[in-house]
Amino acid sequence: MVDRLPRASSLSTEEKAALTSGLSFWESKGIDRVGIPSIYLTDGPHGVRKQREGGDHLGIGDSVPATCFPPAVALGSSWDAELLERVGKALGEEAKAENVGVLLGPGINIKRSPLCGRNFEYLSEDPILSGRLGAALVNGLQSQGVGASLKHFAANNQETDRMRVSADVDERPLREIYLRGFQHVVEHAAPWTVMCSYNRINGVYASEDPWLLTSVLRDEWGFDGIVVSDWGAVNNRVNALAAGLDLEMPSSNGVTDAQLVAAVADGSLEESTLDTAADRIIDLVQKVVDNADADADYDRDAHHALAREVAARSIVLLKNDGVLPLAAGAGRSIAVIGEFARTPRYQGAGSSQIVPTRLDNALDEIRALAGDSTVTFAPGYALGADETADAAALLTEAVAVAQGADDVLVFVGLPAEDESEGFDRDHIELPAAQTELLDAVLAANPRVTVVLSNGGVVRVSGWADRASGIVEGWLLGQAGGGAVADVLFGVVNPSGRLAESIPVRIEDTPAFLNFPGENGHVRYGEGLFVGYRDYDARKAAVSFPFGHGLSYTTFEYSGLEVTGSADGIDVSLTVANIGDRDGREVVQAYVSVPGSAATRPVRELKGFANVAVAAGSAETVRIHIPNEDLAYFDTDQREWVVEAGDYEVTVGASSRDLRGSQTVTLAGDAGLPILTAESTIGEWLKHPVGGPVLMGALAQAGDQGVGAMLADPSLMRMAESMPLSRVAAFPGSPVTAEQLDQLVAAANCASVPA
Ligand code: BGC
Repeated sequence: MVDRLPRASSLSTEEKAALTSGLSFWESKGIDRVGIPSIYLTDGPHGVRKQREGGDHLGIGDSVPATCFPPAVALGSSWDAELLERVGKALGEEAKAENVGVLLGPGINIKRSPLCGRNFEYLSEDPILSGRLGAALVNGLQSQGVGASLKHFAANNQETDRMRVSADVDERPLREIYLRGFQHVVEHAAPWTVMCSYNRINGVYASEDPWLLTSVLRDEWGFDGIVVSDWGAVNNRVNALAAGLDLEMPSSNGVTDAQLVAAVADGSLEESTLDTAADRIIDLVQKVVDNADADADYDRDAHHALAREVAARSIVLLKNDGVLPLAAGAGRSIAVIGEFARTPRYQGAGSSQIVPTRLDNALDEIRALAGDSTVTFAPGYALGADETADAAALLTEAVAVAQGADDVLVFVGLPAEDESEGFDRDHIELPAAQTELLDAVLAANPRVTVVLSNGGVVRVSGWADRASGIVEGWLLGQAGGGAVADVLFGVVNPSGRLAESIPVRIEDTPAFLNFPGENGHVRYGEGLFVGYRDYDARKAAVSFPFGHGLSYTTFEYSGLEVTGSADGIDVSLTVANIGDRDGREVVQAYVSVPGSAATRPVRELKGFANVAVAAGSAETVRIHIPNEDLAYFDTDQREWVVEAGDYEVTVGASSRDLRGSQTVTLAGDAGLPILTAESTIGEWLKHPVGGPVLMGALAQAGDQGVGAMLADPSLMRMAESMPLSRVAAFPGSPVTAEQLDQLVAAANCASVPA
């Protein structure tokens, strides 16, 4: 343990300004005079990308080797917080061995559209899943004394114009979909840092939004770490600091430090604001130096093995007409087709690109597990700009290899150049050469399994019905080749589940008409209805639904019990493995609020459990859904409320494979709605206090017409939408304008929320 570092009060204004910005691309500034060292921050998220000495941001491929764990797109599909905590811990060990104090991740932005070029770096289209898994990664990482940087805060759901675009989003979807996961991670895992995003939200840069960085993040959620800018996200440093941004990265060569000093001098920035930011940086530096370990190292083989285990748990078996797991043995033949089997696509491009410690490919790993089976290979298509490739010859060769094989495995997916940080896709199609290959191979052999490698969702609706098996392999990190072989041969029984829906067509996706916006604005017009929330509301077909994933065994659900309490809802059920293989089941708990006064999705994921069940046995699964996850954001009362009423809890093996449901009634914690003179007659009459108050006033006025109005449904329907103040203004109204204030006061005396 080192000595305590000095507080900001012992620093000059210039030193405090310096402390709150970068020294270089990856280091914060230290203050030698008082012994505050600089610390090292680097990407992240699925490996340590520490650039070699003198490396700049752009030399992305030139970093020291580190384990390339599966990127978030795969991790999200594991639906397993315990597993992700182990990944976080391993990342922490590697970061520590490289003397990295803060690893820049995890990224938990919601996959609003499949077109977002960076979806491979994000976990899910659902905030509960993103939040739980994000918290597990942070907990694991920070257990090693390395800080996380939860990113990109917030509403950074596209790459197009990402440094300027304004995400124009209403407060309910902002709170319930886009911020909810961040809130969960902040409240349950206390990341040392949060990285603010490049974009604007409703017109205000995230880096200079006091509502986002201070009111919500600190005052409401209790965040006590530092806010760091995404690299280059600061638009105006003085405004940013005042809004709650503590650390500007990377270095501005002192230019913006001088602006802070000038702002303090001319009184436009309070020195105490700078002190607060500087003290927060000092607290972070203190944590980093307290945890530093010059001797730290890690076991590369063990981490590679973990990367393989995690990758296998992240693979989603989308379809299986009895072709998997593969049978191996003398006399059997397996045709492996597709360049991706030999040249794996295992991570995405951009700032998260890791130089792996080693790299497995599926072809070698299939050969290793195939035993006495014969394995033949044909590349089928060329990757990149291979001008020597003869597409027709590659196709002919592949068909010849496929014909007559007992099993055919076709590896297709997105070429690296199709998806990256920094730009979005404009379609979700596989390359034409690959779909031609698929058509030809599917026609040549009846037992074809398609293995996909892709960071963002691809359209499968053109061929999925003709394939006998489909394995969604996402981007699986450096050990993905072995993991794919493990699943194909049944060494691992698949248990991954889709963390995002696979749409039939891009035109069906909820953000289709509002992506990526224009003239600097993108309107989140679909509101709450992101991903399955939209498809379920519109009863729309999808190729594969959110939460879907098959196993080589069969699980049966029974004994569902749902109970409500003051803390939320408790779900318990029994899951039996009635097949002959051990396996893992992901039980999903969805909640509907059928009588809600608010707009609600048909059902929303509110909890899940990932459970190992041995063949022939059964396990009790318990899922607790806390009130914080049941609450919706009431934009009238401007707070989270749990509505009183019926909550229907449905458990399922996917969002569309629902196995049972029960309803509980919750007392809720919502105060009564506030009535005003502008509230309508209908709102007044529905209100348990305001209704009788209004009726009493009408009776006192001896109004004869009211009885007739109440008795006549069509008159009532018309009157219901009239604000009370307008009715009061009518000639001869039984409610006078003078009475309005009294009525409002009487109606609201009990309305204050508990
Ligand atoms: C990315 C961040 C990354 C940072 C540092 C930015 O371009 O958006 O995710 O952590 O660069 O490389």
